[in-house]
Amino acid sequence: MVIPLGITPPTPYPAPMHIDLLIENAAEVFDGEAVWPHAPIAIAGGRIAAVGDLAGCVIDADTGRLDAEGGLVTPGLIDAHTHLVFAGDRADEYALRAAGKSYLDIAAAGGGIAATVRATRAADLATLMALARPRLDRLLACGVTTAEVKSGYGLDFTTEIRILEAIRRLDAEHPIDLVATFLGAHTVPPERRHDRAGYLDEVVEQMIPAAAQLATFCDVFVEKSAFTLEEGERVLRAGLAHGLRPKIHADQLSAGGGAELGARLGAVSADHLEHISDAGIQALAAAGTVAVLLPGAGIFLGDDHRAPARRLVEAGVPVALSTDCNPGTCHTENLPLMLTLGMSRLGLSPIEVLKAVTLHAAQAVGREATAGRILPGRCADLAVFSVPSHRHLPYRFGLPPTRHVIKNGRVVFTAGAGSWAH
Ligand code: NIG
Ligand code: FE
Repeated sequence: MVIPLGITPPTPYPAPMHIDLLIENAAEVFDGEAVWPHAPIAIAGGRIAAVGDLAGCVIDADTGRLDAEGGLVTPGLIDAHTHLVFAGDRADEYALRAAGKSYLDIAAAGGGIAATVRATRAADLATLMALARPRLDRLLACGVTTAEVKSGYGLDFTTEIRILEAIRRLDAEHPIDLVATFLGAHTVPPERRHDRAGYLDEVVEQMIPAAAQLATFCDVFVEKSAFTLEEGERVLRAGLAHGLRPKIHADQLSAGGGAELGARLGAVSADHLEHISDAGIQALAAAGTVAVLLPGAGIFLGDDHRAPARRLVEAGVPVALSTDCNPGTCHTENLPLMLTLGMSRLGLSPIEVLKAVTLHAAQAVGREATAGRILPGRCADLAVFSVPSHRHLPYRFGLPPTRHVIKNGRVVFTAGAGSWAH
């Protein structure tokens, strides 16, 4: 074709785009909001290029192909609440609880968070990273491509910063994107029991300015055994002053007004909420704060009190579900299991539990612009599950049926021979 001088040829729309990877033969694609039967997904340059309609996609011999084999494709799952950098374990406490001791009894006797703090302080950076790596690998094998990770088992300047440094380095080396949260106000460390004001001064004046270089969020555990509302407000305001967005562990073991405080401070999320009040629900709805529910912790603690998930949804609060992965109250990386608990224990629907680990979890970690959806332009973070529909992911519970995980357009996990997803 001869193009007359000075005339630009019309640009075809959409512009032709060479596709690096095409995912075919999905029975269903859940895009973060809705389910699309049989939609192919095209990936270019690590991002989603097209879903369903492949117009404009250049698919040739250089295009890789991934056969979803009649499975379900979802956005890479997002675990919005973990404490997975720690040393030691608390299997002894789990046995004590089964024998009738409560979480608070055990904490009062020197166990609980303090036990993990002792073990974590004794572990150097390399050890903390070595302990966390297999946990991240198990999360990845559950379909997770983004995870929030909290400090909070150091409770002194050196160890809190060491945990945040471990998170930073693990983020750089592991396919899962990690979002760091500073939780120096997890509880008052035993040696500062008689100096809680002094400990809080240290959190606010020394730890937060340093943590702000390494973390995105600041969290606080507002609970009878941890911090009061006033103390929590002081910590979160100090975090805000250093650019750390607030999160809050609220109303987990007792009703304490933590959700209302989180909403008032514009918290990105309020987490746990087993004992949230009606006023707390309304406050979260008005503030647009995400409710991160952790049904695994209730099960593991033997606590029958459940977060009012339906009332939260009906009030218009975005509900996320997470593992809470930690050695005391929920030692698991199995995020798909939380979908099952979200339905069986909390009364959510299949679509609601799926949104809770994609769309809403992305909001809870401040990554809603890039993750949690399968939309053109978003990061090509995807999970392929060996189940015939979105309803089967929570239904076939216990073993995550992950077949493949794709991070930024690259296949980073494929189930091996012997796995039931193989
Ligand atoms: O999210 N609630 C506070 N923190 C953790 C538990 C910490 C622990 O017992 O080690 C949680 O459940
Ligand atoms: Fe937690």
